[in-house]
Amino acid sequence: MSSTPPPRTYRVKSFGCQMNVYDGERMAELLGAQGITPAPDGEAADLVVLNTCHIREKAAEKVYSDIGRITKEWGRKDGTAPLIAVAGCVAQAEGEEIMARAPAVSMVVGPQAYHRLPAMIAEAVQGRRSVDTDMPAETKFDALPARRKVGPSAFLTVQEGCDKFCTYCVVPYTRGAEVSRSFNDLVAEANTLIEAGAREITLLGQNVNAWRDDRGRGLEKLVEELAAIPELARIRYTTSHPNDMTEGLIEAHRDIAKLMPFLHLPVQAGNDRVLKAMNRSHNVASYLAVLDKVRAARADIALSGDFIVGFPGESDAEFEDTLRLVEQVGYAQCFSFKYSPRPGTPAATMDDQIAPEVMDERLQRLQGALNTSQLAFNQASVGQRCTVLVERRGKLAGQWLGKSPWLQSVHFSGDAAIGDLVEVELVEAGPNSLSAKLSQPVHA
Ligand code: SAH
Ligand code: SF4
Ligand code: F3S
Repeated sequence: MSSTPPPRTYRVKSFGCQMNVYDGERMAELLGAQGITPAPDGEAADLVVLNTCHIREKAAEKVYSDIGRITKEWGRKDGTAPLIAVAGCVAQAEGEEIMARAPAVSMVVGPQAYHRLPAMIAEAVQGRRSVDTDMPAETKFDALPARRKVGPSAFLTVQEGCDKFCTYCVVPYTRGAEVSRSFNDLVAEANTLIEAGAREITLLGQNVNAWRDDRGRGLEKLVEELAAIPELARIRYTTSHPNDMTEGLIEAHRDIAKLMPFLHLPVQAGNDRVLKAMNRSHNVASYLAVLDKVRAARADIALSGDFIVGFPGESDAEFEDTLRLVEQVGYAQCFSFKYSPRPGTPAATMDDQIAPEVMDERLQRLQGALNTSQLAFNQASVGQRCTVLVERRGKLAGQWLGKSPWLQSVHFSGDAAIGDLVEVELVEAGPNSLSAKLSQPVHA
């Protein structure tokens, strides 16, 4: 690879979970601090960062097809290729392999090392390729520039990594062990997000409710501290593990009004044998017991979860248990996936891998049940008055889109602006959104 002019424009594309979205924003800010500007939509970029996800095979393989396409579509006008950096979880898992398979890639950087991108770009400009998948002791957070302008709803990563080792999952390998950021750093970053326009903050972590600081304080203490900031209207957190749902955090749903009534608590399956084989360390009864406590603390809590169908050895009857659980819980929304064998995980080499057509059929049935549940939840909200945080304009003139406290998408027309917290009455429900009537605008 020969030398190339330093990049003047960049594009960052993030796949996967919200933590990747957060990392993508921070990489963009890092590049911005180097004087590199975002490439306008549809235009060529000198530097492309693909912030990748390794969770399922499809997501991971997509990287290689994207690299070819992006070189063509996002290349410079003079026909020279952009500099390409592969970041995120595929970078962590397949570092050197990416270099071998994709000669167009000049930088591979893992999720814990992306603060070193500027140095890697300097190398790439000289025609040298580099791979950095270290999990360094110094934290990237200390090396990143301050937050800049953000939308009304912002993400804040408080915890990274996972020690749970579910037998199907790559996250403990791509993101490393559970590490919590310090209380003071988080309060400081929350304040800069609020100054930059955030009215809602979603605290993020692969196991966000495992967050602990060095004094042993749990997530509810952080929520309490943030709730005391007058300009911050709403707090959310995701993703939680059933076993880390402490009494303190459950009580916070009762005591802290700014903590929104929504809980994403993945269960994965509704059968104890399958849960054990997954190494989930909760069973159906213990999961339901947690939900009961949360509902006792906050009756209107909206529940969400993740499901995997077709885990190795899952029988028809065991799958039916999952359908029964869905009916019993009454979820507000959920994600559901076909099991995807991931290299290096214990489940990938288990006997009785399930045939693709069986997985397809199970996923369809599960999604049917989840859609019914979601529509029922939305319909039950009709007639409610609630607040909506306005996030963007709708498709129609004068229409606005935002979220209800229960994380439903809500659209309405009238006098409002992005960032407003308005009072509405929910008037009509669809499977994926609700329409509302403005009661009274409450300007920021
Ligand atoms: N830490 C979170 C989830 C992180 S991954 C938790 O434990 O809940 C997000 C979701 O991807 C998981 O909840 C699971 O449903 C799904 N997932 C993870 N590995 C998978 C695999 N190998 N095949 C299919 N889905 C998977
Ligand atoms: Fe993966 Fe399980 Fe950790 Fe969630 S708890 S990130 S599913 S290993
Ligand atoms: Fe994907 Fe990594 Fe998130 S594998 S789901 S981007 S932690």
